[in-house]
Amino acid sequence: MYQLFPKVNGFIHGGDYNPDQWLDRPDILEKDVELMKKAHINCVTLGVFSWSAYEREEGKFSFDWLKSVMDNLYENGIYTILATPSGARPAWLDEKYPDAMRVDAYGHRNRHSSRHNHCMTSVNYRKQVAKIDTQLAEKFSEHPGLILWHISNEFGGACYCDSCKKRFQEYLAEKFNHDIDKLNHAWWTGFWSRRFTSFEQVEPPYSNGEDSILGLNLEWKRFTTWSTNDFMRFEIDTLRKVDPKTPVTTNFMTMYEGLDYHQMMDSLDIISWDSYPRFHNDYESLQETFARNAFNHALFRSMKPDRPFMLMESAPGLVNWAPVNKYKRPGIHRLACLQAVASGSDTVQYFQIRKGRGAFEQHHGAVIDHLGTDDTRVFREVAEVGEMLEKIGEVTGSLAGNPVALLFDWDNRWAIKDAMALAQETKKYEETCIDIWKTFLRLGVEPDIVSSDMDWSGYKVILAPMLYVLHDGIGDKVKEFVRKGGRIIATYFSGYVDQNLLCHLGGFPGDGLSEVFGVISEEIDSFYPADRNHILWKDSEDTLGKRIEVRDYAELLRVKDAKVLASYTEDYIQGSPAVTVNDYGPGRAYYLACRTEAEDLAPFFREVLEGAGISPKILPKNVEYHVRKNENAVYEFYLNLGSQEAEINGICGEDLLTGDRIDGSYMLQGMQVLVVKKEYR
Ligand code: GLA
Ligand code: ZN
Repeated sequence: MYQLFPKVNGFIHGGDYNPDQWLDRPDILEKDVELMKKAHINCVTLGVFSWSAYEREEGKFSFDWLKSVMDNLYENGIYTILATPSGARPAWLDEKYPDAMRVDAYGHRNRHSSRHNHCMTSVNYRKQVAKIDTQLAEKFSEHPGLILWHISNEFGGACYCDSCKKRFQEYLAEKFNHDIDKLNHAWWTGFWSRRFTSFEQVEPPYSNGEDSILGLNLEWKRFTTWSTNDFMRFEIDTLRKVDPKTPVTTNFMTMYEGLDYHQMMDSLDIISWDSYPRFHNDYESLQETFARNAFNHALFRSMKPDRPFMLMESAPGLVNWAPVNKYKRPGIHRLACLQAVASGSDTVQYFQIRKGRGAFEQHHGAVIDHLGTDDTRVFREVAEVGEMLEKIGEVTGSLAGNPVALLFDWDNRWAIKDAMALAQETKKYEETCIDIWKTFLRLGVEPDIVSSDMDWSGYKVILAPMLYVLHDGIGDKVKEFVRKGGRIIATYFSGYVDQNLLCHLGGFPGDGLSEVFGVISEEIDSFYPADRNHILWKDSEDTLGKRIEVRDYAELLRVKDAKVLASYTEDYIQGSPAVTVNDYGPGRAYYLACRTEAEDLAPFFREVLEGAGISPKILPKNVEYHVRKNENAVYEFYLNLGSQEAEINGICGEDLLTGDRIDGSYMLQGMQVLVVKKEYR
């Protein structure tokens, strides 16, 4: 049990609130508080973009408005998450200190513009940030309403200025022990005569510059994360000097590719993220949209498995920046909010409380519309969620405790995308991970999502799709995991390269993994989109009962010690092994040499789970299931994402929303959420 905010009783329900845009309308500010209370809102995030309201001219600070807003909210039972305002710089700052503005990948400095375009190494930007952050900490860290610092906003992007270039070169020198030939070897620069003779010659991969050194491309991405994290830590340290006790977070973004969040998570006390799924789109079912969102929840939850995470932002109603800005249909808001909770969030927060009257986000959804009343559909749905959260308040602090985890590495995302291999259009690393993950979700066993560097010794089953890049030590880690009885499922395109992208010698998967899996992959064939092969399970009667279609990729395996479970049925590869299992000590290592629909493998996954002592569930179509646990009870969440009713069998416990007892079976209405509490006997 881990309560994120001991001061707050139950869930946080609230969101971004921008009173500084309404200081000339005290009537509106007053109305807002009244409406927030009606919506069961108990917390707001203030000051995310308030720099120009705090400091209109360099050194001239005014925080009185913030103090009176925070005081008033607190008196009305509403807590504050206070942001550092570094996400958007005031005009005077860029005018005076142009080095704060980012330089793009062609080497051009941006003009003063919108937000999020900072140079993370700029000395002047840091100086100004330190000043404003210190002021805020000095004035507000003791405020009884403050529960959390929100660092900046949605970090992202890269800067290619001379200062960042220099920092990159220093970073490389440190990484390669000040020995340029170590870098030359790691990046294989003899190829196309790319050898460097000093670190000063190594430039970031400018759009009009070097693009043939894959190791450089990857290291630049790692550096961008490093530099962003360095900046974030600088802000955290600045606050900590004044306020060592209030926890900190920053808001991460949906599967954001540009930053390896796994390298940033340790700097934070709490993980939070902004969730904006495209509900009701024309390219996937509603259930798929929910499942993709659940994958993201799992990704962020797993960054700190010992505590709940936060849903920092979500749209009440709609967003205004998507290609099509569609409203959430009735009932979807409730499902989306409860999905976050079911996935381990102890907060449900929105962007934003009141719609801004002008500028970029004037048409973005908010709890309080321009209409300004409590009788809109969106307001009512928000209030309903607030009420539900109050009823299930005891769930806060409980954790997922899942027995299965999927390995997901940013390096892998970057390296696979950049690899001169496979078929450009169908690499689909992320999609492959999501598809496999979803299949387990449908089996009622939701995997955590961890990086290969995190501790995964406590899981029973590890899923490792397309683990192309092996960080140092991963070979041994897998060996030890399996030797201690763990089960692992790896796929094609695994263990090809080391962390500098040099190919492993002596057979893939490298770094000792071909011994664990008992196979060597000799070739990987890429398919044209219409190409197909098939695989057939050996004992197809009891296992799968059908041939499974193969698309995109098929590896030709040499089997060393493994047992063959399925073989290809067509083409030059006909009869050769496609799925294998190797008993390695008490554990088991499964290898899938080709890509299929993940769903077609559900019976196989079921067997692997059962073999590991985990019981999958049989869930009605469209019902999503999640679990949270604490010392006293298990909380089961059933979300009916369809409009038809669905019968759930084998549930016993208390319906937390109604207080009723459920014994055996339950008829879940269309779009209903059920939270069942089962006490340990
Ligand atoms: C992001 C930002 C917010 C706001 C919302 C709009 O998540 O953090 O400031 O722009 O998007 O959806
Ligand atoms: Zn820069």
